[in-house]
Amino acid sequence: MHPLDPIDLFQGRPAPALLPTEHLKDAAIKALSDKTIFGPGLGYGPDEGYAPLRQNIATWLSDFYQTSQPHNADRICITGGASQNLATILQVFTDPLQTQMIWMVEPCYHLVFRTFEDAGFSGRMRGIPEDEEGMDSNALEKALELFVEQNASDCNVFKTRLQAIKPPKHWRKIYRHIIYCVPSFSNPSGTTMTVSRRESLIRVARKFDALIICDDVYDFLSWNRDGTSSSSTPLPRLLDIDHTLDGGPLNDFGNVVSNGTFSKLIGPGCRVGWAEGTEKFAYGLSQAGQTISGGAPSQLMSTFVNELLESKILQEHCANVLVPQGRQRCLIMISAMKKYLTPLGVTFSSGSARTAVSGGYCIWIRLPGSLKAMDVCQKATEEQKLTLGCGDVFEVPGDKPSRKDLHHRLRLCFMWEDGEKIVEGVERLAFVISEMLSN
Ligand SMILES: Cc1ncc(COP(=O)(O)O)c(C=O)c1O
Repeated sequence: MHPLDPIDLFQGRPAPALLPTEHLKDAAIKALSDKTIFGPGLGYGPDEGYAPLRQNIATWLSDFYQTSQPHNADRICITGGASQNLATILQVFTDPLQTQMIWMVEPCYHLVFRTFEDAGFSGRMRGIPEDEEGMDSNALEKALELFVEQNASDCNVFKTRLQAIKPPKHWRKIYRHIIYCVPSFSNPSGTTMTVSRRESLIRVARKFDALIICDDVYDFLSWNRDGTSSSSTPLPRLLDIDHTLDGGPLNDFGNVVSNGTFSKLIGPGCRVGWAEGTEKFAYGLSQAGQTISGGAPSQLMSTFVNELLESKILQEHCANVLVPQGRQRCLIMISAMKKYLTPLGVTFSSGSARTAVSGGYCIWIRLPGSLKAMDVCQKATEEQKLTLGCGDVFEVPGDKPSRKDLHHRLRLCFMWEDGEKIVEGVERLAFVISEMLSN
């Protein structure tokens, strides 16, 4: 028998205690007791999703992002969450013969790799490093220029592919490239892209006919760095910038889609999210074959989520529970790391006002010297019953790592375990590291 309780700092999901379960129950009862709600909720729905939810999401996003123009429900589609919707975006807007490469921020949220492979892009994912300002748009531009140059030669693999798998349709545009990133509180690095970097990325996307898929899934979980209040004004999404930058989108589809989810706010089991793009993009997304047969996913659950948004219960839950709890757990983790890990030579972004962790779910740390993340994770699991996110997992598959240090990195999540376990987990990690350093 192992004397220790397991501690999981790998889990990137909210602890059940943080979820608005009672409110969700009330919302479900209300929706299922009212024929005007459960009627449409239990039926096949519109392709774009449950209309009241689209409208309430538009209102909520307008309040939250405080953009100059109010958000318009016609630009929003209901989805089955960010993962499901990534697959749908790729189904509609890419073609493995016409779309050439997938350019991904590295380190990268690891669970998207399979979705790109499923869509026909095995071996065609490339990692672009990020620095303190987010995905390196200069490195991306250079890589794209090089790619175009190399593929202009006679041995160009793409030139020989004369046909498209997907014929033209008026509702869709097949992009030549895809760029994938998590602009705010990226998973796993926690990095938030600056506004100027967001603008540069859009200009690069426009130049090379790329669609930027932004997983805007952590925007609602942010707090002021100085701790004076429980939430801070969010940066404009790339989508909002694309709306106005240099006179607005180059064409009706634009170059950015925002992929949102209720997984981190209500619970991953909801499987409800939303996508926002230009009106034409949103309509095109809703025309996927899987959607026109039955309507947008998660129709009944959409009615429950709508109750939470319309009553402002979700907004209050974010402000009163998720954000303060996230901030508190994050600060607990940082102070434990300063106490136990910093003396061992572990580093992480806690210093400058711009880079200090102030939202999201995780902290990305650098192990001392040449310690390998894989070895630390193995020892931590076997000897300390401690599960950690090994840096190697976040490396883009099939490509040379764009950053050399991934193998010496760990992701520690602070939204699953409570404060006591977070401290205990960090202490156990320190024990593992100090043992390895002394051997
Ligand atoms: C960046 C990112 N995208 C997508 C997801 C998954 O979202 P969903 O549950 O809506 O599929 C996660 C969950 O950890 C994530 O971190």
